[in-house]
Amino acid sequence: MSDSNHVRTEIADSVATVTIDRQAKLNALNPDVMAEIDGAFAALLDDAAARAVVLTGAGDKAFVAGADIGTLARMNTLTGARISAEGQQILRRIETFPKPVIAAVGGYALGGGCELAIACHIRVASDRARFGLPEVGLGIIPGYGGTVRLTRLVGLGRAVEMILTGDMIDADRAAAIGLANIVVPHEELMDRSTALARRIIRNAPVALEMALKSIYEAVESPMDHAQALESTLFGVLASTSDMKEGMAAFLEKRKASFTGS
Ligand code: COA
Repeated sequence: MSDSNHVRTEIADSVATVTIDRQAKLNALNPDVMAEIDGAFAALLDDAAARAVVLTGAGDKAFVAGADIGTLARMNTLTGARISAEGQQILRRIETFPKPVIAAVGGYALGGGCELAIACHIRVASDRARFGLPEVGLGIIPGYGGTVRLTRLVGLGRAVEMILTGDMIDADRAAAIGLANIVVPHEELMDRSTALARRIIRNAPVALEMALKSIYEAVESPMDHAQALESTLFGVLASTSDMKEGMAAFLEKRKASFTGS
C-alpha cells in the first residue's frame, strides 16, 4: 500500500503489516521514523481493507534497538521533554488503536523499541527476541511510557528489576513474566503473527474494538467506573447487526458472517 522512507505497509487478507526498516541502525527510532510510524497507523485507521495490524522490524537482528541515541545525545531540557512527550503520544495512539495491533518481535526490542512493543496489544516473540530497557546506562529513563506500561504489564517488582538493571531478557523469560504472549521459532515469526491476527479478526469487528476499549480503560479506572463503561459498551453491542448475526449463526449452527456494523 503506502511506503515512506523507513516504514512500509502491506495489506493482505485484511491484515496490515507495518515494517520499520532502518536496518543499518537496527531500526532505531529517530524523529522521522517515529513520524512515519504515526503516519502509517493514521492511514490504517480508516482503511476498511485492514482489520488488524502486525508491527515488525525489518531484518533478522532487531525489532527496534531503541530511540536513536545520536538524536538523544543532542537533546536539552526543552527538546528532551518534547521528544518524550511526542513519543508518548505516538505510542498512545497505537495503544488506543481501535483495531488489534500485534508486535512481531524477531530480535532486539530495546529502550523505545521495547516500549513500542509494549504499546501494542499482543506481542509474539521469536526465539531470537531480546527485550530490555537499558536507558539508565545512558543516564536517562524510559521516556515513551515504559515506566508506566511495563509496570502494568509485568508487575512492579519485575518492572523495577528490568528498568534498574537495564539488562536484556530472552524470549522465554519475557513469556514467563507476561511481556511476550507467545514464543515461536524465528522462521515462523511472521506467519504465526499473521495467523494470530487472522484468528482474531474472525470475530466481530465492533466487538473487538469495544473489548480493547473496555480492557484498556479498566486498567486506568476505579472498579465502578470500569464496570459502568463495560455495561455501556455491552449495551452498545446489543444494538449491532454483528451481535444479531453472531448469535443467529450459533443457534443455526453455521459460521457467522460479520459486517462490522
Ligand atoms: N540508536 C542509534 N544507533 C543504534 C542504536 C540506537 N538505539 N542501536 C544500534 N545502533 C546502530 C549502531 O550504532 C551501529 O551503527 P554503526 O554501524 O553506524 O556504528 C548499528 O546500529 C549496528 O549496531 P551494533 O552496535 O554495531 O550492533 P551489535 O550487534 O554489536 O549490538 C546492540 C547490538 C543492540 C546490543 C547494540 O547496538 C546496542 O546496545 N544498541 C543500543 C541499545 C540501546 O541502548 N537502546 C536504548 C536507547 S534509549
